[in-house]
Amino acid sequence: MEQAKTVFSGIQPTAVPTIGNYLGALSNYVALSKNHRCVYSIVDMHAITVRQDPETLRRRAREVFALVMACGPEPANTALYVQSHVPAHAELCWILNNFTMFGELSRMTQFKDKSAKHADNINAGLFIYPVLQAADILLYDAHIVPIGEDQKQHLELARDIAIRFNGIYGDVFVVPEHLIPKLGGRIMSLADPSHKMDKSDPNPAGYISMLDDRDTIIKKCRRAVTDSGSEVRYDPAGKPGVSNLMTIYALCTGKDTDAVSREFAGQGYGAFKEAVGEAADGVLAPIRSKAAELTGDPARLDTLMAENAGRAAAIAGPVLNRVREAVGFLPRK
Ligand code: TRP
Repeated sequence: MEQAKTVFSGIQPTAVPTIGNYLGALSNYVALSKNHRCVYSIVDMHAITVRQDPETLRRRAREVFALVMACGPEPANTALYVQSHVPAHAELCWILNNFTMFGELSRMTQFKDKSAKHADNINAGLFIYPVLQAADILLYDAHIVPIGEDQKQHLELARDIAIRFNGIYGDVFVVPEHLIPKLGGRIMSLADPSHKMDKSDPNPAGYISMLDDRDTIIKKCRRAVTDSGSEVRYDPAGKPGVSNLMTIYALCTGKDTDAVSREFAGQGYGAFKEAVGEAADGVLAPIRSKAAELTGDPARLDTLMAENAGRAAAIAGPVLNRVREAVGFLPRK
């Protein structure tokens, strides 16, 4: 793996990931791990930029860790770890703060959205969230950063920070590129196909959680909002509900949407929705049971977390030293 490019991505442990997160991100984490050095972080430090219940955050960090691990990234090529276990993130974030402009951070749309949503808690952490994200990425010499469309602006900022820093000190950082999935990047809500499926949706009918049991998955698919008519046809503008279910079905079965409409020609929505539920459960069931095995053995999970954090820290350490030296810190003896 010496020559392989490095991939970095982060996932917040604020809620259980959905089938949308799986099809849009996690399945891609696994695919990339076959021939890249992959660093995947459960970003609990980002999570506390909005208030979290401590017990819930701890539980979620373990659940999300177990779920990502259960998806099966290639262990020899992957460091999957909890962000706060590697203090280098906080150290690099502090340094990068001094190379990030107030104006740049003020323009971040996620900051503006979250400030509006949490008007009573517009804290400095929320403001510098994108700098911590830049630190995550730059700390591992990552070339490729798989993200959703909503994170593109943060990735652009990470690139700007890296380029600015390199402009002053020479080639210290690898300048990363984003990778946005084509299909699967936008799995929509089952309850409202005009919105993205959201793991934090207050209405659980809108999403399939990766920990939902079979009955729940089937029920949610049965009740998914569809469109008028009865034809299973891919038309995201005219038939957003059906098209979304077709995307889920296609990705879960490895078929394309043309094959899906042929398969259900003349059958109506009922049979199709049953099949979507079956297909979704077919993909999620083995992951769910592997994850349950891991969370059911806390000692083993702790060991895996510690080992992986050690591997991540071993990559981050030399990069941080490069940066410390560049800015003029004395070496740590
Ligand atoms: N901000 C990202 C999100 O909310 C999570 C994240 C944190 C991330 N650090 C990252 C994603 C680094 C990619 C790379 O989805």
